[in-house]
Amino acid sequence: MNESLENILLEVSRSPEIDGGNLARASQFILDSALKGLDITRVSIWELQPDKQSMIATALIDTLRQDAETPVLRKSELPSYFEALETERTIIANDARNNPITAELAPDYLPEYGIYGVLDVPLRHKGEMIGVMCCETRKEHRSWTPDEVAFVGVLADIYGRAVSAAERERFEQLLIRQNEQLESMVAERTQSLTKALDNFKQAQERLIETEKMAALGKLVAGVAHEVNTPLGISVTAVTHCEHRLKKLKQAFTEGSISKKQLNQFIDDTFEAYDLLNSNLERAATLIQNFKKTAVDQSSFELVDCQLKDYLQALTLSLKPMVKKKKVSIDIRCDEATTLRTYQGALAQIVTNLISNTNEHAFVEPDEEHRILISAEPEKDGVQFVFSDNGKGIDSDTLKDIFEPFFTTSRHNGGSGLGLSIVYNLVTQKLKGEIDVQSTPGEGTVFSFYLPNLQK
Ligand SMILES: Nc1ncnc2c1ncn2[C@@H]1O[C@H](COP(=O)(O)OP(=O)(O)OP(=O)(O)O)[C@@H](O)[C@H]1O
Ligand SMILES: [Mg+2]
Repeated sequence: MNESLENILLEVSRSPEIDGGNLARASQFILDSALKGLDITRVSIWELQPDKQSMIATALIDTLRQDAETPVLRKSELPSYFEALETERTIIANDARNNPITAELAPDYLPEYGIYGVLDVPLRHKGEMIGVMCCETRKEHRSWTPDEVAFVGVLADIYGRAVSAAERERFEQLLIRQNEQLESMVAERTQSLTKALDNFKQAQERLIETEKMAALGKLVAGVAHEVNTPLGISVTAVTHCEHRLKKLKQAFTEGSISKKQLNQFIDDTFEAYDLLNSNLERAATLIQNFKKTAVDQSSFELVDCQLKDYLQALTLSLKPMVKKKKVSIDIRCDEATTLRTYQGALAQIVTNLISNTNEHAFVEPDEEHRILISAEPEKDGVQFVFSDNGKGIDSDTLKDIFEPFFTTSRHNGGSGLGLSIVYNLVTQKLKGEIDVQSTPGEGTVFSFYLPNLQK
């Protein structure tokens, strides 16, 4: 190939326009080079349409005519021309109007533009013919040289490279756009999830607060009931004494009082005082126990809790809750075992667990119901085991019991919050862990570990 053609090809091949991704710019550059190398006045690129039945010009340089319009080349009108493009490397027609392949262009196209010679090279991409580059001469007796044929062949290959670059660019842009869309979608989702989470946290805090009040309410109701009995007895005893005293006063005023009567009165009064004493003492003890639990429950202070005393006081105050059934609550804990924790939260946990045994575990009225609470020091904390010998929980139910709003007794007014509160208190407020195991027919065991908390 002669040197000037080689130099042009080198320039085209090295140009950043080719791989830049802009096919229109690359096409113009290739056509300019063809014009320069072949010394012609008209060159164009035609693109095969998706239905493969026609081609339209996508780039054109004509130095003599600047027609805005170009015809459509149709396969139905130019069958030999289309076939040649599909099968041959290059169509070399020095006398295009009489060449068997290009003669089809003769009636309209060639004379219209004053064309005599045609050097048409098919454009291919990924092995498929995608169009044609038409190099046309208006000189009557011009022969295309083998160098020129090779030259346009290389230009056509370079065009293929430009198509690949444009395709890559298109995909990259698409990818960038999709990435941007994805990023904005993720940002949007994250925002709505964060909001939902915030709402959920708020709702949860409200629920904890509500449940705290509910547990306190149960405690107050239980204690009030329990205190009512000794106070009632005391009031009766006082009324009885008052009645006897009035009678004595009357007999004394009438001067009819006998020694026997006076003795009887003194005996009765001592008996009433005994009754008063024991019942008022019982009420005082109950109130003391209630203070231990109820005050902590509302204050939620971090304290060093002497577990044995605390659990005993707490369960005593909760006894009314399970009073209707025969329930024994056994506490196994060394005197020395202490835990630095939020006592109120611990009270709430135990209250909920006891309330659950009463509502769900102990269903057989005649059986002997037992609750065992053990607390043993472990690592820097205490391992608690809370077990009942009730009806147990089947495995299907067991996996959901810590879920908020999960309950098997909605019809009885259960909200399904008790154990979810327990779970949150153990794992969040008290930084511990909780686990449950159950055998239907035998009972349920809640084990939870609570660490000593730092002040
Ligand atoms: N000791 C237990 N024995 C058998 N089943 C239990 C026991 N403790 C809990 N359950 C089961 O776990 C479910 C969830 O308990 P949770 O305390 O969360 O809700 P609830 O007691 O039904 O309602 P709420 O506590 O809000 O009044 C209960 O409905 C019950 O089926
Ligand atoms: Mg419950």
